[in-house]
Amino acid sequence: MASSSIPARDSRLRGLQLLETSSVTKGTAFTEAERTSFGLEGLLPPSVETIDLQAQRCLQQLGQKTTDLERYIYLQQLLDASETLFYRVLMSDPARFLPIVYDPTVGEACLKFGHIYRRPRGMYVSIKQKGRVREVLGNWPGENVRVICVSTGERILGLGDIGANGMGIPIGKLQLYTACAAVPPDSLLPILLDCGTNNSELLHDPLYLGLRQTRPSPDDMTAFTDEFVEAVQEVFPNCCIHFEDWKGTDALRFLARYRDKVSCYNDDIQGTGSITVAGLFNAVRIKGEKLKDQRVLFFGAGSAGIGIADMIAAAMKLEGLSEEQACRRISLFDVNGLLEPSRTDLIPEQRVYAHPHSPTRDLVEAISSIKPTILIGVSTVGKTFTRTVVETMSELNQRPVIFALSNPTEKAECSAEEAYQWSKGNAIYAAGVQFPPVQYDGRTFLPGQANNFYVFPAVGLAIYLTNAKRVTDEMFIEAARATAEQVTDQQRGMGLMFPPQSNVLETEICTANRVAKIVFDRNLARVERPADIDTWLRAQLYKPGYA
Ligand code: NAI
Repeated sequence: MASSSIPARDSRLRGLQLLETSSVTKGTAFTEAERTSFGLEGLLPPSVETIDLQAQRCLQQLGQKTTDLERYIYLQQLLDASETLFYRVLMSDPARFLPIVYDPTVGEACLKFGHIYRRPRGMYVSIKQKGRVREVLGNWPGENVRVICVSTGERILGLGDIGANGMGIPIGKLQLYTACAAVPPDSLLPILLDCGTNNSELLHDPLYLGLRQTRPSPDDMTAFTDEFVEAVQEVFPNCCIHFEDWKGTDALRFLARYRDKVSCYNDDIQGTGSITVAGLFNAVRIKGEKLKDQRVLFFGAGSAGIGIADMIAAAMKLEGLSEEQACRRISLFDVNGLLEPSRTDLIPEQRVYAHPHSPTRDLVEAISSIKPTILIGVSTVGKTFTRTVVETMSELNQRPVIFALSNPTEKAECSAEEAYQWSKGNAIYAAGVQFPPVQYDGRTFLPGQANNFYVFPAVGLAIYLTNAKRVTDEMFIEAARATAEQVTDQQRGMGLMFPPQSNVLETEICTANRVAKIVFDRNLARVERPADIDTWLRAQLYKPGYA
């Protein structure tokens, strides 16, 4: 379980031990009768409270904190004290708490992880334990682990290699499974695969908690990861492995290595691909066209670029194109210019998108010659979609689709305001960050944020309930379609490409329903197909209340 060090719902606990066990305590909500039978009399103030009253007190205390990092620390301490109350608070308003338990606050928490550390959560499996990984995983006391989120801490958000401090990411990601999709927290296990770090500042920080050694060779990394993946199959046989924030090349090669052998996925690749495709489904709907008829140019060809390109190609194939036809519609441009066959620096995953073209390092020239209908920025470099870039896209397209996905805000290839102004209000725009509404020419535009949190908790819920043997791109494309279809015509008309965050739990339950159906249709489920998927799914959702 993600939250407490004692996962078992142990009915033998009594007295102070019961009171202090996060997964079972009710705190001041223990009834008079429970206080008598569990030896709690005298250990609590007399008032018996409801969980809503307890949550009200937490919200009041949260309101007194002055920074998001303080709110983050408060919430994690609340989780240490009472898992149910923590999720009651979080699920009372997921949209409000998402930026605190996850991006952007979690980035700051990770940077200071060794300094704000209070107690362990999840598991640390270190490369020093190579040869004994199965034994180490066996120390986890939870019996029903169904999703592991595992990071090496090597490429955390935009922070680079932060080693064991990256543990905040799998913890936060799994909290979103519960907050956004009601996956029971005791089925989730965050793991930090500690392979050292090349971050010399951390290696010299006396409060750093990870292994004090540099990272291994790619071959040693492969051997260790192989052992980890095999050990998970043995110790937690019904578990899906969610890879998160691994170095780009490792992310791509390990996904390719395990995806057809075990239940696993990579959110940076497939989750990012899915939410971007969701935005594109809405963009082409506004244009009255199909995705398969678009030409896509990427600015940036790293793990996000390749992941999204592969997902778009997979979605185009589902609309009837061959693999070759789909790849032909997608081009990429990186720090060394347009990807084309004469380039000698390309990895195999990039080479499939290197189409015959004269070499160029000029983005505007590439746009003028390729004539993309969709331009996607995943370059990590802000302000690179200049006025000329947006105007060139606008000359070629009545409704240019421009997604500037790099984050944080200063890295966005162009802001929402720039995109709408330079395209004279015609751009169909989304960003990787949340931009405020834009007024242009008497109209209000609501720029959308392509955030993975619309997708991975929903896919996670579907995997958890169906016990899926494999996780396929088709499942992520269905998640994209379901997410896109939950945007109303009126919202699309105002520029929204994604559903509003205010109703994220219901949105994701609907998405999970659609993904679960695909799992059953493809015979990938390890549970019997229910007569009514929606009723079956809703009956198993986690509800943060006291039994
Ligand atoms: P990466 O470092 O693997 O790739 C960056 C790519 O941009 C490389 O191909 C590089 O050659 C290219 N690049 C760098 N400078 C350039 C320049 N001046 N001109 C043209 N190309 C340039 O990074 P990754 O993981 O692919 O992420 C890229 C960006 O996408 C990040 O800012 C990340 O925050 C963002 N992202 C957004 C997501 C979302 O909105 N849901 C999800 C995942 C990533």
